[in-house]
Amino acid sequence: MPEAFVAPGQAAKPTGQYCDMVLKAQQEPEAFWLQQAQRLTWQTFPQAASRSDFTGDVVIDWYAGGVLNASESCLDRHLQTQPDKTALIWEGQDEGQREVLSYRVLHERVCRLANVMRRLGVKKGDCVAIHLPMVAEGVIAMLACARIGAIHVVLFGGFSPEGLAERLSDSGAVLVLTADVARRGEKRIPSKETMDAALQRCADASRVKHVLVVPVTGADVPMQAERDLNYAHEVAQELPTCPAEPMQAQDPLFLLYTSGSTGRPKGLVHGTGGYMVWASFTHAVVFDHKPTDIFWCTADISWITGHTYVVYGPLANGGTIMVYEGLPSWPQPGRWWDVIDRNGVTVFYTSPTVVRAAMREDEAVVRSRSLESLRILGTVGEPISPEAWHWFHDEVGKGRCAVVDTWWQTETGGVMITAAANSVVPRAGAASLPLPGVEATLLDTQSAVVQGAGEGLLCMARSWPGQAQSIWQDHARFKQTYFTTCPGYYFTGDGARREADGYYWITGRVDDVVNVSGHRIGTAEIEDAIATDHEVVESAAVGIPHDLKGQGLVVFVVPREQGVFHPDAVNRAVAAGVGRYAVPEKIYVVSDLPKTRSGKIVRRLLRKIAAHDLDGLGDLSTLADPDIVDELIALVKAQA
Ligand code: PRX
Repeated sequence: MPEAFVAPGQAAKPTGQYCDMVLKAQQEPEAFWLQQAQRLTWQTFPQAASRSDFTGDVVIDWYAGGVLNASESCLDRHLQTQPDKTALIWEGQDEGQREVLSYRVLHERVCRLANVMRRLGVKKGDCVAIHLPMVAEGVIAMLACARIGAIHVVLFGGFSPEGLAERLSDSGAVLVLTADVARRGEKRIPSKETMDAALQRCADASRVKHVLVVPVTGADVPMQAERDLNYAHEVAQELPTCPAEPMQAQDPLFLLYTSGSTGRPKGLVHGTGGYMVWASFTHAVVFDHKPTDIFWCTADISWITGHTYVVYGPLANGGTIMVYEGLPSWPQPGRWWDVIDRNGVTVFYTSPTVVRAAMREDEAVVRSRSLESLRILGTVGEPISPEAWHWFHDEVGKGRCAVVDTWWQTETGGVMITAAANSVVPRAGAASLPLPGVEATLLDTQSAVVQGAGEGLLCMARSWPGQAQSIWQDHARFKQTYFTTCPGYYFTGDGARREADGYYWITGRVDDVVNVSGHRIGTAEIEDAIATDHEVVESAAVGIPHDLKGQGLVVFVVPREQGVFHPDAVNRAVAAGVGRYAVPEKIYVVSDLPKTRSGKIVRRLLRKIAAHDLDGLGDLSTLADPDIVDELIALVKAQA
């Protein structure tokens, strides 16, 4: 095992390969990142690493002059060296559903679908929406888009028709892949029906020329003549080879929608070259990748984690990925532990929510499983408490496995801050150290750099290859969102604390984004959805601490007519406008909201009241109507 690394210039003497990388990335970033670019297959090797600039119009530009195709790095080059190696193991949630795809077979399936898409008129630069559960076809569809230079937009199965329609319209997708029906434990999710409803809502639905329906359950679903096509039928007609489209390093590989503190979800644009280098580099370094690994990242492919660590990172590195369709504890507790044992999973990357839920089960559940194949465990998406970290380490890792808490974002493309497995000494509950080349910085509210130990806004002083390039068709919003709070820096939206030896602890979002079980939810989206109900005058959504979900969503609603209004209307509006996953934990019907004299809702107060944290509410005299605070406190106490 390499000697664990602390931090350059800190107490422990920096040694080892990992430390060499940190120093080289710091001292000679151009040379270092060009060297890392060799991880990929290029048709033309890039002339430069970064030409990015966080000032002026903001340019995120990696690997200028480079020409490549992401699917060649993930598939073709492995065909030459290890065509029969298992690329993907898929297990369905029902007993006995299992499929093992070698690199050869995965390549063939990707090519067949790529040929279907080309035949249907999809061209380089077109957007293709992928709305699929965790079936192999989801991975295949992403790679098939990459193959022909189409930009994929993977959409979460839990979005409402309205949520889907908004993203379909914004992206201008020309083709959609959906499932007939998706399985989720006992539930059946009507994917095709939901997509039909979404397409009906799109003002410009005519841009979607075709819907390819993957027969996941084989259910009979309505098919619109000419528009809707059966996936299985279409791919069967195509050849298993397909020339890969040459892409400039800067050409977009995908868009992925995520929530921010204001406005509608934004489509972050990730380029091909930089993103792929970051996916490969971070997968190798963070998870100490070995060719014999069976890598299971449990994230849905509709999240960035699924993009980078289900698909692009491990496949670029020639690994074997595990894709499991079902829930952690269905049909019985410990189902995911069985998936690990049955398939010999070596790296298990999941969320703190999953760990917390497992901790609540009878300890016999985890102890009755072997889990001896595991060597590395990871979490992402939300803070992991030291208690949960230790449980994960002791009970799942049996005290033998490295545990990596990884901090990153949709915007960063891949892991940024972590205790890289077997290279950096972890600290339970800390995100730990920035990866090589990541120049994390803390700034105070006056935008002054915090030196040494301290707390502040978490920013990046320099671009890294995985950084998103822009917001789809709205570069001004990109600049405004990420580069104006702390001019000259990328602002993450998170706060953090740093210890004297450089270890980072994430303290959470400093904006109006709530993280429910790792789902990033903009409170503005919730409020917009509620505003569609004409009975509501206004509302405010806030996050509160939640034992299981990390954060829970609480909504304060001011109805037009007190006494008549029913809170269920709020749930319906959120489910329809955003999706069921965003339905609030608790709704308080109130006569008014606490506001400043200039009419701004004081969310800080609402957060504290909703969390029953009534000490230090601060100076209330600046409120337009300080009496409202007593009403809110009484209401929250009465409904505790
Ligand atoms: O607040 C941070 C939190 O999740 C946000 C990013 O969400 P998203 O773009 O959906 O990406 C999630 C998966 C990469 C961050 O701004 N977050 C993510 N990882 C951690 C975290 N908070 C604490 N610890 C983490 N390890």
